[in-house]
Amino acid sequence: MAALAGKLVLIGAGKMGGAMLDGWLKQGTAPEQIAISDPMVSDEMKALAAEYGFAVNPDLAEVTNVEIVLLAVKPQMMAQVLPALQALQGDKPLYLSVAAGCTISGFEAAFGADAAIIRAMPNTPAAVGRGITAICPNANCSETQVDLASSLLSAIGQVVKIDDEKLMDAVTGVSGSGPAYVFHLIECMAAAGEAQGLPADIAMQLARATVAGAGELVHQSPLAASTLRENVTSPAGTTAAALEVLMADDAMPRILREGIAAATKRSEELAG
Ligand SMILES: NC(=O)c1ccc[n+]([C@@H]2O[C@H](COP(=O)([O-])OP(=O)(O)OC[C@H]3O[C@@H](n4cnc5c(N)ncnc54)[C@H](OP(=O)(O)O)[C@@H]3O)[C@@H](O)[C@H]2O)c1
Repeated sequence: MAALAGKLVLIGAGKMGGAMLDGWLKQGTAPEQIAISDPMVSDEMKALAAEYGFAVNPDLAEVTNVEIVLLAVKPQMMAQVLPALQALQGDKPLYLSVAAGCTISGFEAAFGADAAIIRAMPNTPAAVGRGITAICPNANCSETQVDLASSLLSAIGQVVKIDDEKLMDAVTGVSGSGPAYVFHLIECMAAAGEAQGLPADIAMQLARATVAGAGELVHQSPLAASTLRENVTSPAGTTAAALEVLMADDAMPRILREGIAAATKRSEELAG
């Protein structure tokens, strides 16, 4: 795992930034190598800073030996944040952004065509260390910088590398927005259980635990998802009866294909 030699400056210590910071501290990153910048630091963040001793809102012009600047503000805040970061440019840091829809060319325009930039797309299970992040480096990034970014992002889950930035919209459609589809699946399963006579709370508990358990099984098992599905589907059994409906006329594949296509298109529009 690539180790951080210089300093890491986190811009935006909200949900995503906070989850990453939590992971780095748990993984043993030295607090003196971390500085956070956020105009409204939460009480939890203040308590964490008091416990570990990392810098909070230092004068960015005074921070030296910056190896990586991690941008975790909302995309609409990005234009406001970038000018303040000029102060860090002397160190030629790697800029790693997790902001949805903020493109590499936008960062190159702000930091220079020779700046090392990685655009990343994480997802919400990052909050429990079980996210997946796709990273897309520009041509200026060294292998060491890509390794370092992967290693920092592994604090919140798995990391995959994408070489073609255009595919970041499809990543957004599958994994970025994906947790919401699964939450909706839970809602639909619970409602369907209620329709079969189950009390609402029991139906919801059954649906939540089933999705969480199936997710854990697919996470731990080396088997393909299709094999896991086949393994629980006895011929002419109950699961087969349901799957006949879900798979008939391409029903479930079609609805997901269309949903993910809509998310991908929206991501393209937002990236402008
Ligand atoms: N959460 C996710 O699952 C997820 C998934 C994929 C990508 N992302 C990306 O991650 C980024 C952060 O999302 P989030 O959910 O963590 O949002 P968030 O909880 O609102 O965090 C953003 C943080 O940045 C702070 N901030 C605002 N202006 C700032 C400035 N000028 N300088 C420094 N910090 C500033 C915000 O402070 P205030 O609250 O005071 O405004 C907030 O603490 C977004 O770009 C999003 O696209 C998030």
